[in-house]
Amino acid sequence: MLDLTTTIGNYTFANPLMNASGVNCFDKDELDAMVASASGSMVTKSATVKPRPGNPEPRYADLTLGSINSMGLPNLGIDYYLDYVATYQAAHPADAIFMSIVGTTFDDNIAVAHRIQDSDFAGLTEINLSCPNVPGEPQTAYDPAQTVKILDALFSFFTKPLGVKLPPFFDLAQFDQMAAILNRYPLAFINTMNSIGNGLMIDAETDTALIKPKGGFGGIGGAYAKPIALANVRAFRQRLNSNIRIIGTGGVHTGRDVYELILCGADMVQVGTALHQEGPQIFARLLTELQAEMTRKGYTNLPEFRGALKTL
Ligand code: FUM
Repeated sequence: MLDLTTTIGNYTFANPLMNASGVNCFDKDELDAMVASASGSMVTKSATVKPRPGNPEPRYADLTLGSINSMGLPNLGIDYYLDYVATYQAAHPADAIFMSIVGTTFDDNIAVAHRIQDSDFAGLTEINLSCPNVPGEPQTAYDPAQTVKILDALFSFFTKPLGVKLPPFFDLAQFDQMAAILNRYPLAFINTMNSIGNGLMIDAETDTALIKPKGGFGGIGGAYAKPIALANVRAFRQRLNSNIRIIGTGGVHTGRDVYELILCGADMVQVGTALHQEGPQIFARLLTELQAEMTRKGYTNLPEFRGALKTL
């Protein structure tokens, strides 16, 4: 019998799989489908203080090797998700879930975090510093000074387990710089990574951008993202304090993909594009495939191979 349990802080999860925020987590129906799935946990859609309709459609397209999206943070507002998790917690007191929060301004980031701090939410909070899809707004975590400003402000009042969702980084100097910043805070986890921001895909018949917002620019997910995600998990695991756990996100389509993110150091693994394309039943398949891969390699639990990537 294989042991797939994993931990973040004081929370233990039956297995490392969950959805990526933005996929299958917009409303009660989608979240209930996650609860009914084989995933080990789940996260709500990144919530702002007030509901947002998001960007004009079409704002998502499937691609040969993944997806492009510029959703623009459509969400039902923090109160909706706080209501949902309160009901969830009452029914599943032993099962921790994640709430994702986001602000399009500094003040909104702080305001939405206050709503969680002041609530009865007893799970983990992920602040999204990496959405690439709000017209006119940069991805916060690409600005080290702004990242420090937000984290300083958050940790002056926020006492619940908190993590950050990061954008992909591409230069080793960026990993050094961001890890040095993150190591200064009592973070429970980081989530690396969000979609690869501001890609562009074109319809070959019409020579038109595939999605409407931002002139066609959008976040790229799926298989295109996998090597970048592996590198980001690996690079941060090599640099972060060991008590900061890592959620690996990007390009998961098979159990082998899950295995490889754990091999690079991931404690949990999120599924985005493939979940959107296949639906919540993907989690049962991924677990079966992950267990088959572990058995093939002679492992019986996740710590035996977590971070055990070999290099030449
Ligand atoms: O556009 C979106 O809603 C995506 C958000 C994100 O990638 O963080």
